[in-house]
Amino acid sequence: MEAADALPEESTFICTANRDFAAYAQEELRRLFGSVKSSVLSDREVLLVKLNTGAEEAVRKMTDSRPIFLRHVQPVQFEREGDNVGELLSAAAGFVLGSGLLAAGIKAALQVRKSEGAGGDSAPQLKEWLEELLRGSEAEFVSAGADWIVSVYVTPSGVYAGISRPEDNLSDWSGGAVRFRREEGQLSRAKFKLLEAEREFGLDLSAYRSAVDIGAAPGGWTSLLLERGLKVTAVDPAKLHPSLLKMPNLTYIRKNASEIKFRDNEFDLLVCDMSWSPKLMVQLVTGLLHALAPGGTAIITIKLMHKKPMALIKEVIASLEGSRLQVQRSKQLFHNREEITLYMIKY
Ligand SMILES: C[S@@+](CC[C@H](N)C(=O)[O-])C[C@H]1O[C@@H](n2cnc3c(N)ncnc32)[C@H](O)[C@@H]1O
Repeated sequence: MEAADALPEESTFICTANRDFAAYAQEELRRLFGSVKSSVLSDREVLLVKLNTGAEEAVRKMTDSRPIFLRHVQPVQFEREGDNVGELLSAAAGFVLGSGLLAAGIKAALQVRKSEGAGGDSAPQLKEWLEELLRGSEAEFVSAGADWIVSVYVTPSGVYAGISRPEDNLSDWSGGAVRFRREEGQLSRAKFKLLEAEREFGLDLSAYRSAVDIGAAPGGWTSLLLERGLKVTAVDPAKLHPSLLKMPNLTYIRKNASEIKFRDNEFDLLVCDMSWSPKLMVQLVTGLLHALAPGGTAIITIKLMHKKPMALIKEVIASLEGSRLQVQRSKQLFHNREEITLYMIKY
């Protein structure tokens, strides 16, 4: 066959973003691939996407581009229509076994999700069921550290399945939903954001010495930094949780961050999780940047206040980069709500 006659390459993926942000994930895909055919699998967060690019090239483009809103992708290599969940799962298991990938010595993770209205069983029940159907394979089923991820997505009218390397899914968590166990006495859900940022950006918070936490109350981020062994200066006009006040490595400044003065290069980590307008946050952070040593790290959440997040993020990044901060990553973490998180280094 001559090259001109070759069939155009195509690939299909299930793409997931945080609730209400699927449209922005789609915009990221459009920027990468031009026109993108997509349909909604789960309202405002999960899309079935068909691309005019072969699967390998598509995965490379998506992972290399480090998207902000596209949280998770899973390949669709098998699809079957129907409404009998048992039959659909058996068919998906047949595809997985037929691939020959789940051989002896292989670690495989099963990730099963379903859209609203699909079947009566919960996703964990469907996963157990699938594992039962895959007993014939010789692979070891694991929840972390897998060689292959088997992804199955069940809808009211069919099933989609694919097998991929964990690094090709943008996140090795099912649907990119990073779940941490809530600890007893945990001061705020916000703590999960910093935990996830540490993991997502490949940081080791215990490698820092001294942090300033701007907008620290009630103290989730501060408590994590203290647990990691840092000296922490927490700034907030609101009250920190009383359990923190006796911590020897904590300095608590109960003020608005615009009223305080620090020495130059006092900190090697600056974190800021103020629920404030991005413009004011940028003003405040840039005013305090002299206190962050060159080479120091900044982790900052940006509230997405209005309907044009792409433009807003661009504007905020431009202002911060004009102030000796270089953006390493920007990401809407699973634990971010109407916001994204920036990881930056001061030069
Ligand atoms: C979302 S909460 C922070 C939660 C915190 N990261 C945690 O883990 O518990 C936002 C905080 O920013 C504080 N804040 C808002 N404006 C501020 C300012 N100008 N200076 C200092 N703190 C401010 C608020 O008082 C509020 O406690």
